Amino acid sequence: MAQLVVALDVPNPDRAEQLVDALYDLDLVYKVGMEPLYGYGERIFSYLEARDVRHFIDAKVHDIPRTAAAAIKQLVRHGTHIVNVHALGGSAMMRAAADAARERAQELGMTPPHVFAVTVLTSMSAGDLSDVGLHGDALENAMRLARLARDSGCSGVVCSAHEAAGIKAAIGSDFLTLTPGIRPGGSAHGDQQRVMTPSQAVRAGSDYLVVGRPITEAADPVAAARAILDEMQKVTA
Ligand code: C5P
Repeated sequence: MAQLVVALDVPNPDRAEQLVDALYDLDLVYKVGMEPLYGYGERIFSYLEARDVRHFIDAKVHDIPRTAAAAIKQLVRHGTHIVNVHALGGSAMMRAAADAARERAQELGMTPPHVFAVTVLTSMSAGDLSDVGLHGDALENAMRLARLARDSGCSGVVCSAHEAAGIKAAIGSDFLTLTPGIRPGGSAHGDQQRVMTPSQAVRAGSDYLVVGRPITEAADPVAAARAILDEMQKVTA
C-alpha cells in the first residue's frame, strides 16, 4: 500500500506544526527537508517525536564517506523512518551511510531507518542532465544509479514516478521507490519537470508519494491531502 508523504517545506515552525496538527488524523509521513532542517530542525523533530508520527529526513547527504556516515549517525537519533543520500556521492559513500544507519540504530535500540539514494532530481530536464555531464536520459541515469544504490546497501531510491516501474522491474518489487514530483490534475507544476498524478504514480509502483506545495499551499490542506489519499486508494481498491 503506497504511503503519502507531505513535504513540510514552510519557513516558519509554527506553520509546520499547524500542518502536522491539522493532518494528524490522516496518518501521513512528514518530510523534513532542507528548509525545516536548517531553519528549525531540533524543534520540528521534538514535535514530530512527541506526536509519534513517522518522518523522513530529506537531508540529501552528499560528502566524503566518513562525513556522510557521521551526518547519518546524527540524524538517526531522531528515530526517523527514512533518511537519504545522493547516489552521485558514489558507492563507498552510500555503503558508509547505510552501515552507519544500521549500527547507530542498533546502539540506540531503535528500528534502523531506510536509507534511500536520490537518483536524478525530479526538477532536472534532459538539458540539465547534459549540462552537468550526465549522458543519456533521466530513466537511464536513474536505473544505473538505482542498481548502484541497491548494491551499496540502500533499501530504495528517490526518483521520478516515471522511473519507478522500470526500476521495480529491473531490481525487484522489494526495492522501494519514493517519488516527488506528484501533481494532482490541474495543479501547478512549479519547478518540477517530470511529474505524475497520484493515481499514475501508484500504478507505476511508487511506494511513497511525496507532495509538498499542492498540500501546503492549498486553501484547505486537509481537503487537498484527503483528495490525494482517495485517488491513491481507488487504484488499490
Ligand atoms: O512542492 P513539491 O511537491 O514540488 O515538493 C517536492 C519535495 O520533494 C521538495 O521538498 C523537494 O525538495 C523534494 N524532492 C524533489 N525531487 C527529488 C528529491 C526531493 O522534488 N528528486
